[in-house]
Amino acid sequence: MVARGENYISDVNDGELREIIGCVLVSMGASLEAVTELDMVVICVPTPLDANLAPDLQYIESVTHELARNLRPGQLVCLESATYPGTTEEVMKPILEESGLKAGVDFFLGHSLERVDPGNKRYTIKNASEVVGGNDPISLEVAMAF
Ligand SMILES: NC(=O)c1ccc[n+]([C@@H]2O[C@H](COP(=O)([O-])OP(=O)(O)OC[C@H]3O[C@@H](n4cnc5c(N)ncnc54)[C@H](O)[C@@H]3O)[C@@H](O)[C@H]2O)c1
Repeated sequence: MVARGENYISDVNDGELREIIGCVLVSMGASLEAVTELDMVVICVPTPLDANLAPDLQYIESVTHELARNLRPGQLVCLESATYPGTTEEVMKPILEESGLKAGVDFFLGHSLERVDPGNKRYTIKNASEVVGGNDPISLEVAMAF
């Protein structure tokens, strides 16, 4: 739907979405092989609450395994899904390092959690602060620059 410029999110403006889709720098696809061409990889897969009201990390884990197969030196991987503190370090980092690359040395690992408050007219995506974290000082610097 997004590739066709069809908006399914109530607080996203139809015109703004069409403008972005029409931009030559934007392309969409379902394959993660194209990830090797990217400098910044932002993960925003669902994290629904499970029966114990803890975030279900199965989507973060599966996409991180796929990313590990396509990771290359110099990339920033930034998690934006809502989850508990420690997810990047305890869950994602060991999976990504199975690639043989080391976080903070060969690639950078950051997180920047939810800042969308649907329906809030005062604080929108344009004026809400973004809190950014990094696995290590260099990752933090790269994530903040992004
Ligand atoms: N950081 C922020 O500012 C911010 C803002 C909004 C939402 N969020 C968080 O982002 C997450 C996603 O929210 P949403 O509203 O965009 O959800 P959504 O359901 O609209 O989108 C999730 C997308 O992830 C894809 N996906 C699921 N599993 C995948 C996998 N293994 N590999 C690749 N893609 C996969 C789905 O196809 C879907 O397109 C939630 O955790 C939400 O809380 C963060």
